[in-house]
Amino acid sequence: MDQRIKEFVIAAILITASCSPAAPPTRSQARPSRDDVQIISPDGTIEISFTVDKGVPYYLVRRRGREVVGRSRLGLRFRSANFDRDLAIEHVQRRRQNTTWEQPWGETRFVRDHYAEATILLGQSIARNDPPSAHSGRLKLIFRAYNDGAAFRYVLPEQPQFGDFQITDERTEFRLGSAFQSAGGAHAWWIPAYQPRRYEYLYTKSPLSSLDKPVHTPLTVEAPGLAISIHEAALTDYASMTLKPDGQHALEADLVPWADGVRVKGKAPHSSPWRTIHIAERPGDLITSTMLLNLNEPNRLGDVSWVQPGKYVGIWWSLHTDKETWGPGPKRGATTKNAKRYIDFASKHGFSGVLVEGWNVGWEGEWFGAGERFRFAEAHPGFDLEQVARYAKKRGVHLIGHHENAGSVGRYEQQMNGAFALYEKHGVRVVKTGYAIELKTRWTDGSEHWHHGQFMVRHYRRVVEEAAKHKLMVNVHEPIKDTGIRRTFPNMMTREGMRGMEYNAGWNEEGGNPPDHVTILPFTRMLAGPLDFTPGIFKPYRRNGKTLYPASTLAKQLALYVVLYSPLHMVADLPEHYQGQPAFRFIREVPVDWHETRVLDGEIGATITVARKDRNSPDWYLGSITNAEAREVSVPLSFLDSGATYRATIYRDKTGYRDKTGHRVKAATQDENSHFERNPTAIEITEKNVAANDTLQLALAPGGGQAIRFALATE
Ligand code: NOJ
Repeated sequence: MDQRIKEFVIAAILITASCSPAAPPTRSQARPSRDDVQIISPDGTIEISFTVDKGVPYYLVRRRGREVVGRSRLGLRFRSANFDRDLAIEHVQRRRQNTTWEQPWGETRFVRDHYAEATILLGQSIARNDPPSAHSGRLKLIFRAYNDGAAFRYVLPEQPQFGDFQITDERTEFRLGSAFQSAGGAHAWWIPAYQPRRYEYLYTKSPLSSLDKPVHTPLTVEAPGLAISIHEAALTDYASMTLKPDGQHALEADLVPWADGVRVKGKAPHSSPWRTIHIAERPGDLITSTMLLNLNEPNRLGDVSWVQPGKYVGIWWSLHTDKETWGPGPKRGATTKNAKRYIDFASKHGFSGVLVEGWNVGWEGEWFGAGERFRFAEAHPGFDLEQVARYAKKRGVHLIGHHENAGSVGRYEQQMNGAFALYEKHGVRVVKTGYAIELKTRWTDGSEHWHHGQFMVRHYRRVVEEAAKHKLMVNVHEPIKDTGIRRTFPNMMTREGMRGMEYNAGWNEEGGNPPDHVTILPFTRMLAGPLDFTPGIFKPYRRNGKTLYPASTLAKQLALYVVLYSPLHMVADLPEHYQGQPAFRFIREVPVDWHETRVLDGEIGATITVARKDRNSPDWYLGSITNAEAREVSVPLSFLDSGATYRATIYRDKTGYRDKTGHRVKAATQDENSHFERNPTAIEITEKNVAANDTLQLALAPGGGQAIRFALATE
């Protein structure tokens, strides 16, 4: 069996036990009542309590005794019944799991799945204290306690009165507990839901109690010594969950509706996604949690040796900076000649993919929100797909196809299979999809659908499944949020779903991304999964008479390849902008598939330092970034193999740096120093030997960063 597809079990302990109505508590902190069910994580860190009080189900979550989520309601309301009251516990079944599985690609190669689980069967009584035999309906709740979080889902079992069903409301609450109500208070890092730009907003930090509109998940909330992220896992046939604040400390699930107001339509048996609460003392530990992946089903595609992470270049930045155009005219980017130029560049530097946007018919005039014209299996006359694909193959690279449907999903689905078959025939290995429309997408019958409702969740899932049939990897822009389905469908590589590099191209009236944006993303959006941010801008560019550059130093652009995780990372700048640039070496060398990831240091919105070990060599890579403030970060190199010597190639901001003992060894003048506004492209590259017992002092300029490759030195 292929090593890449093996999900093997290194150690498995499965204990199944049943008891009715509830198992005895195993911890003494809160004296549970007779009807309490306690679920305690394997090392005792996380404790979930479930109870039914006067017919209403509630749960509560503690971490080491601190109340993270206080007593919060659960329940579902259907058109035909309400499963949020008159409930009683009929049966509790417990299970524990301790297995390790291998990812075909990812931030970490081996993933431990270690939890305690309780499945609680609830019966609905007509009259109080009805015996189970008199119950009129049944709903299951499954809880899992991991050492770094809590998760639960609803399961509607098959039963006579639920063939087809319609959920009108989910009553799940997240009432943040006493740990978030201390003097320091709790503040949330949020983006608004139900807004025209989908997930493409800058994050706001504000007291939880000041939130006054629904927000997207993952939602990160911090209190002194505690950080949590509320999100969902395995969103495959359900509405996505937004969170409605109550103006104090509670958030309520708010499912994105269909046009008729119904939230979820289905047929029993049916499961909701998992509601997840990642919990950590340090926000950096939220990033390395694998709970989300563990809550998704194992690989369903079998042999995925055709799924291969890689870096890509493309006809893209030139379009956003208005140097070239998607549509016809003298500046058209997607020409046969131009595509060959990018292929030559990719081939020369070892990048596996070349994206060509604007290659197909339909880009005339304003295309945003006007996808009816797009034809996905037909190239415009100036682009010879067959010839370009053949040329790419000869040069050892593959094309990344582009399907911008501008929100016309009905038209897209009609053409999808033919378009995927065409790509497969020409050896295209990845498809980048796009849904550039405000608020709602359109189906062929004229109906309109939220990007995040169940209709679109089903659509995005169909695309991934259809693409797999044609051995295509998928990179979605304007996506539904990630909930870890890459475990089940390993061709679901990466997605946008945040303000990416394109916002720095000068077209956004509100300006580009500020320097702190990328110090927030790893603790918020990236908790959902990989992000196609498209880093690597090396040269300032001119637009409308202005010289522009992302609010970043060049060293920070390099560091983003390590800090931001994506199995497909773009090398976004124009080929000519990399010419004669020594710092380009880092981009050529940095891998996109990792054996292990460690978050060494991090403060949301301020700084983050990440080290990752290459999956295919003994080398480590490090990325460290800061917001608009200069800072020094001390990095003990204890993650390196002890006893080994590594050659460190250091790409750093010019700062008037200090040596190991803290002495300033060179005083760069103000003008020489790197600064995201004044001198963004100043960079220094040095080399030295280091070992695990060394500590590096990283000096980061305002808006700056540092990238390091640690190559195991051969004796
Ligand atoms: C928006 C995407 O985010 C961007 O990458 C793409 O270039 C345009 N849509 C056109 O598809």
